[in-house]
Amino acid sequence: MHMILIGFMGCGKTTIAHILGKQLNKKVIDLDAVIPELAGQTIPEIFASEGEAAFREYEFQALKQTLGEDVIIATGGGVVTYGKSYSTLIELKNRPVYFLNAPFEKLYKRIQQDENRPLGNQDIEKVRDLYQSRLGKYKALSDLEVSTLQTVEETASEIIAHMN
Ligand code: S3P
Repeated sequence: MHMILIGFMGCGKTTIAHILGKQLNKKVIDLDAVIPELAGQTIPEIFASEGEAAFREYEFQALKQTLGEDVIIATGGGVVTYGKSYSTLIELKNRPVYFLNAPFEKLYKRIQQDENRPLGNQDIEKVRDLYQSRLGKYKALSDLEVSTLQTVEETASEIIAHMN
């Protein structure tokens, strides 16, 4: 049975997924690593050459091929913005979906000037609007919201405690 981590850029999905993977002895799949394999290009290259809509379709394909496997899935922060991905996630029967969150300013600090994140590497107001526009969706999708203001180990323990 899969386990899904969602949340904005910089919330720690990939790091926490790997800690959980070790502790639960499960394979970790990072959708941001699957997408370049499907597209034959890096994420910034997809945005530059094919645009965001094409990126979202690759992201959906990556999600679809991964769901149902007994793995921990680290999604990209924008997985909630595309109708097909969002409805797939909201319709999951036995989700556990965990929303990792922190105050926007903290997240922005972690992601600014990261060239690998085309949507994070913009003016703070634009990125804040993006965060605000997604927040309700992360909350609607998740079974549990977990703060990542604590250490990554504490965050992972909180998720494991919720599973048991
Ligand atoms: C995106 C987040 C990124 C990556 C892409 C788009 C977004 O993933 O999928 O750059 O729209 O928020 P992370 O959340 O892992 O940075």
